[in-house]
Amino acid sequence: MTSHLKKVELHCHLEGAAPPALTEAQAQKYNTDISAYLRDGTYVWHDFASFLECYDKVSEVYKTDEDYALLTETYLQELAGIGTIYSELIVSPDHGDRIGLGADAYIAGICEGIRQAKAKSGIEARLIVTGERHFGPERVIAAAKYAAKADNPLITGFNLAGEERMGRVADYAQAFDIARDAGLGLTIHAGEVCGAFSVSDALDVVRPSRIGHGVRAIEDADLVRRLADLGTVLEVCPGSNIALNVFPDFASHPLRKFKETGVRVTISSDDPPFFHTSLKREYELAADAFGFSDKEINELTRTGIEAAFVDEKTRMALL
Ligand code: HPA
Ligand code: ZN
Repeated sequence: MTSHLKKVELHCHLEGAAPPALTEAQAQKYNTDISAYLRDGTYVWHDFASFLECYDKVSEVYKTDEDYALLTETYLQELAGIGTIYSELIVSPDHGDRIGLGADAYIAGICEGIRQAKAKSGIEARLIVTGERHFGPERVIAAAKYAAKADNPLITGFNLAGEERMGRVADYAQAFDIARDAGLGLTIHAGEVCGAFSVSDALDVVRPSRIGHGVRAIEDADLVRRLADLGTVLEVCPGSNIALNVFPDFASHPLRKFKETGVRVTISSDDPPFFHTSLKREYELAADAFGFSDKEINELTRTGIEAAFVDEKTRMALL
């Protein structure tokens, strides 16, 4: 039972949180046949590449700033309903551009959703702008420039997501330089689909305070020690890892091992309905599958607040 515990989430892709029923309604509203990607209330994909394709197709039925406000408010209110006080949403201006909405209206709609949710439940949220590797380095640089110039107090971080097997981290170094110079918090998907080398590349090239997933660092004991020494925070998404077959089952998942080795870890849901999970379930798994006590789960939450890309006044209020 974790319903009484305060929760935070650092790693959730906004379109990846779209409830299937809402996506179905959106598809009907726009007369779009989405049956290849959403059937019987379930998103349809079978491996990481087809998941990314499904994600991009689902995103296409969210077309206006109002659609994005509704999606954002719906997800944040779901989080607030389970005791979540803080959420970072990974958003991709490319998705706004791809549907012809444009990045500004895309972000404006999302920010409106954040305001609505905060007014109703008090939940705090911030945005991490992401580039998607499979859209290519030029688009990732454009996303970083957008985030750097946005001058929007809710945009506090920059990320790199998408097809991890595409290129090496060095191909995206310039984008992270732009984001770092703008004072944004840095995190990067690494060590999810690719092995430990991807995590050491990320540390060498990006020097991020956090890593999205990072779990395959477990394949290299020296790297695990390096993560612990640096204090790098891993945004661990156990349900996502099992759904994508990064590990065969929770018994072989390294979350507990990382924590016991002194690596700073947090828990998140990544793309919850795509991976048949939710933040509520991730907290339950922490107790039931990983055997963490309430005290240990509260430590995960506290690490999340300490590592949040948020101003110090808000951080203190969350702690
Ligand atoms: N992993 C990597 N890239 C992504 C994801 C994810 O879970 N969701 C959207 N882009
Ligand atoms: Zn992710």
